[in-house]
Amino acid sequence: MRIILMGPPGAGKGTQAKKLCETFGIPQISTGDMLRAAVNQGTELGRKAKEYMDQGLLVPDEVITGIVKERLRENDAEKGFILDGFPRTIPQAESLEKILEEMEVKLDAVINIVVPREELIERFTGRRVCEVCGSTYHVKYNPPRQQGICDKCGGRLIERADDDVKTVEKRIDVYERETKPLIDYYKNKNLLANIDGNRPIEEVFEEIKGLLKGEG
Ligand code: AP5
Ligand code: ZN
Repeated sequence: MRIILMGPPGAGKGTQAKKLCETFGIPQISTGDMLRAAVNQGTELGRKAKEYMDQGLLVPDEVITGIVKERLRENDAEKGFILDGFPRTIPQAESLEKILEEMEVKLDAVINIVVPREELIERFTGRRVCEVCGSTYHVKYNPPRQQGICDKCGGRLIERADDDVKTVEKRIDVYERETKPLIDYYKNKNLLANIDGNRPIEEVFEEIKGLLKGEG
C-alpha cells in the first residue's frame, strides 16, 4: 500500500500515520520527524532546516526531495509507505512522481484530512510530544496515562518548538498558499479522498481504514 496523508498543520496526519503504520505494518515516512531528528542530532541538514522550521516556512524543495528519495529507496519502503508531510508543493509532487516511476511503483491513494482553521489552533496549544520517541499526545483529546510522561517509552513530554501561536498562524498561511494546490493536483489524477478530520481520532481512523481496505 502506498499512500500520502495530506492536510493542514495539526490535521492529525502524524497521529493517523502512526496508527496506520501499527495496523498495516507499513513504514511511516514523515519529513517533519526526519527534519526534527536532524535538528536534534545537530547535523548540517538539521542546522539548515531549523532556520526555516523556526519561522514556520518550508525547507527548500531540493533539500527535502533528496532526503525522501534516499528514504524511499531503503529496503522497507518496498513493502509500501505512508507519506506524512510530503509532498507539500507542486514541484515536490512532480519529483515524487519521477522517483516512483524510477522505482516502477504507483500511488494507491492520497488521503486529505480536512479540518477548519479555527479548530487547528486548539490542537496546537494542547499538543505535547515525547522528547525521546516523538510520540504525539494532546492534553485534552489524547492525554497520556500519566501527565507529562510518554506511555510508550517513559520519556518526558514537551511542547514543539514551532507550536507557538504566531508560528502556527504562519504555518497555516504557508499551507494555504503552497500546499493546498495539491488537492486539485491529486483530484485530477483520481487519487484524492477527502476525510472529515474534525471528529474523534478513532472515528477518523476507522474511516481511513475502511477506505484503504482492498488497496494492495
Ligand atoms: P511537520 O512536522 O510535517 O508539521 P505539520 O505539517 O505542520 O503538521 P503537524 O505535525 O503540526 O500536524 P499533524 O497533521 O501531523 O497533526 P498531529 O497528528 O500531530 O513539519 C514541520 C516543519 O518541517 C514544517 O513547518 C517545515 O518547515 C518542515 N517540513 C516538513 N516537511 C516538509 C516538506 N515536505 N517540505 C518542506 N518543508 C517541510 O495532531 C496535532 C494535535 O492534535 C496533537 O496534539 C494530536 O494529539 C491532536 N489530534 C490529532 N487528531 C485529532 C482529532 N481527530 N481530534 C482531536 N485532536 C486530534
Ligand atoms: Zn516516548
